[in-house]
Amino acid sequence: MQMTRRIVFVFLALVLALGGCQLDTGVKVIKMGHAQVVSHPVHQAMIFLGERLEEKSGGKIKVKVYPNQQLGTERELLELLQIGSLGMTKVSAASLEAFSPEISVLGLPYLFRDDAHTSQVLQGEIGKELLLSTEKYWLRGLCFYDAGKRSFYSKTKPIETPADLTGLKVRVQESKMAINMIRGMGGSPTPVSYGELYTALQQGIVDAAENNPPSFYNSRHYEVCKYYSIDEHTAIPDVVLVSTKVWSELSPEEQKWLQEAANESAVYQEGLWKEAVEEALREVQKAGVKISYPSKEPFFDKVSGVYEQVFKEQPQLEPLIKRIQQTTK
Ligand code: GCU
Repeated sequence: MQMTRRIVFVFLALVLALGGCQLDTGVKVIKMGHAQVVSHPVHQAMIFLGERLEEKSGGKIKVKVYPNQQLGTERELLELLQIGSLGMTKVSAASLEAFSPEISVLGLPYLFRDDAHTSQVLQGEIGKELLLSTEKYWLRGLCFYDAGKRSFYSKTKPIETPADLTGLKVRVQESKMAINMIRGMGGSPTPVSYGELYTALQQGIVDAAENNPPSFYNSRHYEVCKYYSIDEHTAIPDVVLVSTKVWSELSPEEQKWLQEAANESAVYQEGLWKEAVEEALREVQKAGVKISYPSKEPFFDKVSGVYEQVFKEQPQLEPLIKRIQQTTK
């Protein structure tokens, strides 16, 4: 983090003070920050989460949601949770990589066979283990949100085969797995935070990026990138987290309400997702984006080395990857 960003960040941590603060009225307010704009389905799901929690607690607990990276990048939001200055967040699982090697496997390209496989894994035992795998870093996962599948979008030409990535600077999340994947496919990976990506694309700091349709649309990146190539290389979910400091200050009953509200918001968000994907594809096309559906095989063939690299560098993850691949129900 640059010096000025660091100073702003420390200031913010002090201003936010307590992540879950008790007002004089006896009402607890949990602050929740995230990087998306308010029209995105994940924001709507967080508002729903707050409403459910308020109702379950008879108005005693409220959630105040800060969108748009107002309180920091996903990495910074996680740091605020760790020190208890912020109560909750929603980040991409890719942003949790540094805290949990287990979670990093969700960023493996073409890990899931289809949507049913993704939900069998995330809603089952493996999902539960992954949500709690960051607890030793003061971050407790409450539920996953659907973040669909990520595909490439670019400024000057469509990405139809991995060869089209040669010489392209491709924005990636701050994730080693993503860096290795883009390198494996032949592009030049460039980490940029989500909130800074529009300008980075506009100014040519990067030539291309990748994301799910609702994020491509709601971020307005389609105004700059006129090619969207649906190769669906990853299906990295979003994760809703609470600071363990805030969690431990809740009574067992309050913890139960929060967990239930999170679970209900995940069901609500899943319901919004399909329509959001359709709307996004429709709207970007209307705005002049050319959508293509390249064959996935050549991309997949290029990234088999990413799996080999993980098996070699982190052999302890191999059983988990095999368990995910073998999950059928
Ligand atoms: C997805 C994800 C966000 C993340 C973004 C990114 O949209 O939902 O949490 O910030 O990808 O590419 O950074």
